[in-house]
Amino acid sequence: METSLRTPWIVGVSGASGTPYAAAVLRGLLRAGEAVDLVVSRAARLTLLDETGHPFRDAHWRDDLRTWLTRGADGKDGHFDLEPADLADVRFWAAGDLAAGPSSGSYPVKGMLIVPASTACVAGVALGLSKDLLQRAASVTLKERRTLVVAVRETPLNGQTLKHLVTLDEAGAVVLPASPAFYAGARHIQDLVDFVAGRVLDAAAVPHQLYRRWEGELGSAGSS
Ligand SMILES: Cc1cc2nc3c(=O)[nH]c(=O)nc-3n(C[C@H](O)[C@H](O)[C@H](O)COP(=O)(O)O)c2cc1C
Repeated sequence: METSLRTPWIVGVSGASGTPYAAAVLRGLLRAGEAVDLVVSRAARLTLLDETGHPFRDAHWRDDLRTWLTRGADGKDGHFDLEPADLADVRFWAAGDLAAGPSSGSYPVKGMLIVPASTACVAGVALGLSKDLLQRAASVTLKERRTLVVAVRETPLNGQTLKHLVTLDEAGAVVLPASPAFYAGARHIQDLVDFVAGRVLDAAAVPHQLYRRWEGELGSAGSS
């Protein structure tokens, strides 16, 4: 009898500012019916606590994830209609677990989205350091020629990071700065967050309705 193979997206959350971007990407993947394998770096736990006031603990990851995903970018409870069943196909791997599934190229995944990506993480992946599961999974994603999206968040950028980003681009990753646009009619912080999350999902070809797409201005001068 044929059984369908679970092929999740790996979502790597590193310690850059921007944990609301990660929450929005996770929601988008779950709404699209995608399975998710989640890897949260040690540093990301600190940023998460700073940015949301909520801890993320290995032993209570499902509860903590639910709390995290139901918060808006302003830190208040958002209208994110997630049910406990929505988290049923999420797997969580501890960042220090280098024997975890995503450490191996034979573990079936669609690809990996690093949201947000710290400059330390960018350096580690560009140099192939594999210092934790997040970096190892990213290196594996590149060697297996799978989709790797790196939503880097830092400003300004030094020359070293720029070189690392070029290395990642040349290795086949999509370098996607967490840089929201304002043309999509943003009125709230969450709209800006959703724009970046939507661009991440675009790069992974995952359907979503996180932002209003630019369709041009029909009827304007010169359009005939
Ligand atoms: C509150 C806070 C915000 C941070 N924001 C950023 C950031 O936006 N970009 C960045 O590259 N590093 C940022 N850092 C530093 C990273 O957390 C640090 O470099 C860490 O070593 C990254 O480790 P990781 O890549 O294993 O998660 C921040 C740290 C803290 C505590």
